[in-house]
Amino acid sequence: MQKLGERTFDVLFMNAGIFGPVPQSVENATDEQFAEIMLTNCFGPIRLARNLLAKPKLPGGTLCFMSSHRGSIEMNDEAGLTLDLYRASKVATNMLSRTIYADNRDKGLTVLSIHPGWAATTMGTLDGTVEAEISVEESVIGVASVVEGNMGSGRNLYLDYKSDRLPW
Ligand SMILES: NC(=O)c1ccc[n+]([C@@H]2O[C@H](COP(=O)([O-])OP(=O)(O)OC[C@H]3O[C@@H](n4cnc5c(N)ncnc54)[C@H](OP(=O)(O)O)[C@@H]3O)[C@@H](O)[C@H]2O)c1
Repeated sequence: MQKLGERTFDVLFMNAGIFGPVPQSVENATDEQFAEIMLTNCFGPIRLARNLLAKPKLPGGTLCFMSSHRGSIEMNDEAGLTLDLYRASKVATNMLSRTIYADNRDKGLTVLSIHPGWAATTMGTLDGTVEAEISVEESVIGVASVVEGNMGSGRNLYLDYKSDRLPW
């Protein structure tokens, strides 16, 4: 962090994340598995963002979080899919990113939570064992265009890679 010195950035993007064990459910997960996914997907990026808050250009700077449609409470009507840990971690990240926005809205900060689509990364293909819906290229182009279209807007939005709004 200190190496960044006085530099500021137009956009900071928190991308890292894990999927957790497969299958995953509250009944079967261990304390360690739950802690690991919450630390990696929520606490890590939110804490980093908070520590970097002097770094986005203010006003006009943008903080982005790689979210997931699985972080939407309203969209969770997929009975039978055991994704408890992943969902919980992304819901928590959405909530705490919104809190960062609430705390910094008057300074002109933009906060975007972005679902990249079901993309053919290591995670998206479960290490090459399943087929994803879209290519990494399509996902990245979409996510980049979401960022470009909304950076500096001073808003807090939950969007997918096609720029469609998702319900929190
Ligand atoms: N792919 C999808 O379909 C999809 C859908 C919705 C949301 N997402 C989200 O998109 C983001 C990127 O996922 P991906 O699909 O690109 O997954 P991925 O292929 O598994 O890549 C995950 C990335 O996160 C990094 N990472 C994991 N744990 C870390 C840690 N503790 N510290 C630092 N870096 C860490 C990994 O670094 P190393 O390679 O060094 O381990 C890797 O670069 C995640 O937040 C994921 O939840 C993905």
